[in-house]
Formats: sequence, structure tokens, C-alpha cells
Amino acid sequence: MTPRPTLIDCDPGTDDAIALWLALASPELDVRLVTAVGGNVGLAHTLRNARAVVGLAGSAVPVVAGADRALTAPYVDAAHVHGDNGLGGLILPDGPAAMPGVAADAMRAVLREAAPRSVTVIGLGPATNLGLVFATEPALAGRVAEIVLMTGAVGEGNVTPSAEFNAWNDPEALAIVLGCGAPVALATLDVTNQALCTGAEIAALRAAGQGACAAAAARIWEGVKPSRRSGGRGHEQHDACAVAWAVAPGLFVGTPVFVEVDCGPGLGRGRLSVDRWGRRGQAANATLLERLDAPRFFTLLTARLAALP
Ligand code: RIB
Ligand code: CA
Repeated sequence: MTPRPTLIDCDPGTDDAIALWLALASPELDVRLVTAVGGNVGLAHTLRNARAVVGLAGSAVPVVAGADRALTAPYVDAAHVHGDNGLGGLILPDGPAAMPGVAADAMRAVLREAAPRSVTVIGLGPATNLGLVFATEPALAGRVAEIVLMTGAVGEGNVTPSAEFNAWNDPEALAIVLGCGAPVALATLDVTNQALCTGAEIAALRAAGQGACAAAAARIWEGVKPSRRSGGRGHEQHDACAVAWAVAPGLFVGTPVFVEVDCGPGLGRGRLSVDRWGRRGQAANATLLERLDAPRFFTLLTARLAALP
């Protein structure tokens, strides 16, 4: 198995932290670059958290700062979910210094050097950095094997009734990515709702892992309020679903669809329009991840977190 060259853009973010650790612990991925975007909390926190998560895993993957706001919309955080520092109040040791420069430039540099259709790009926050890459150098989409995004909702949203947080925060950037021509896979709320972390998963992680990362992950899980969407049963591992698709696609059932995102100013802003039946007369531009084998997902996630330092 040749590890997949991979770039990860994120806004840590409690679930981003878990997703980053899953990626760094997975031999299927060769993580070349981690970039931070303003999202769950401001860029100063998401950048520090990305560096700290990478550092705690003992990784030397470069971390680069990206956009601190959306392309056009005002910045809105989700600190009420992730805490003021983005990790539910958990203070991790400071990680390696960020690499100088800007995320979109660093991503383009990796893509420019890559062979055609060779790089996996994983987006775990508002798609601003990814949108900047493909808006400024569209040909780089030809170097991308697949873009995997945690974004969007087909059913009910989580920031408005219509829209999920990442898509709502920067729908214009998401529209650029959906139209860039690279293969896209979407982990929307409809599949991440199936990755529900409850007391049982936390206990299993506590029992499995003795390292600093597993302990930090368990502490993060214990600190996240159960979601109303789950009826208070637990909280969704949104971002780890996107990484799990890149690591173990057999955990999912996906459907080719044509997807657009509403960039209007109204109630539907950030909503995904998913066309299964070709009503829009367009070829499919994404694989919509629809079903998850949750027990196998958490078995994989727990084993990988437990294997980290
Ligand atoms: O709506 C959930 C998504 O928004 C996750 O990526 C979470 O980290 C936030 O970025
Ligand atoms: Ca995120």
C-alpha cells in the first residue's frame, strides 16, 4: 500500500483535533501539510491548536496559517460549541512553530510539484483556503486525486435550519471547490450524525490508549456537550468521518450526485442542493457519503488514537 500524499485544512476545533490525530496515526496517509483557517474559533486559536495537535503526535508535518475570515461573509465562530480556545478549555503544550507563508500558497506549492491526480485534499473547516487555491490556479485541480470535505447538510443544518457550519461560513469558497473539476467526496451532517460519540466510546478509548494523544482525545470527548440533534445521547465526530473516508472508504456507502451550494443572502444560505436524478442536467460532481458503519468506525478511530504517542 502506497500512502496517499495528503493535505489537511482545518479549524481545530475539538472534532478537528481528533480527525488530525486519526490522519497522523494512519499509515494509509502521507500527510504533507496541515493548514489552519478561521472557523470554530479565530485563526490565532485554530493555528495554535493545529500546531499543538501535530506536536503532541510527535509529527514534523509543517503547519501554515490561512484565512482568518470567509471570502465575502463576516466571520462567525462556534466557540459556544468548542470553547473559547477551541479545544473545550484543554491546554495542550505548544507545538512546533508555524511555517511562514500563507496556506493557499503552501497548498499550491505542494500541488504544483505533484503528479497528476495524486494528492488527497481533506477540508475540515470553512473552505476558504481551498477556494483561494482553485480560484487562483484552477489547473491545480488536475493534481488532486480527491477532495474530501466535512461540509454541508442535506437534511437539517446545525447553524441555521438550512445549513451546516462550514458550508454556511463560506458558501462562495465551497462553490469554487465543488466546481473545480477534481473528484469530491462529501461527509455532510447526514452521515456524521451516525458517528455519535457516547460514554461507551469514551470508556473504550480510556481503556485502549495510554499515550498523551489518547488521553487528550478522551479529555476532549468528555468536555464536549452532548448535542441536541442526538437527543443528548452524545456528540458527532464530524471531521473524523472525512479522514476515515480517505483511510477506510469501506466504512461508508456513497452515492454519486450533482451538488450545488446556495450562496444567496436568504434563509437557504449555505444549504446544499443535492441532485440524485439528473434533474439539473449535470453530471455528478461529488460522492455523497450516506451510510457509515459506526461500530467499525469507532474501532478504527480508537485503535489509531491509542497507537499515538
Ligand atoms: O458543522 C460541523 C463542522 O463545523 C465541523 O468541521 C466542526 O469542526 C466545525 O468546523
Ligand atoms: Ca472543523
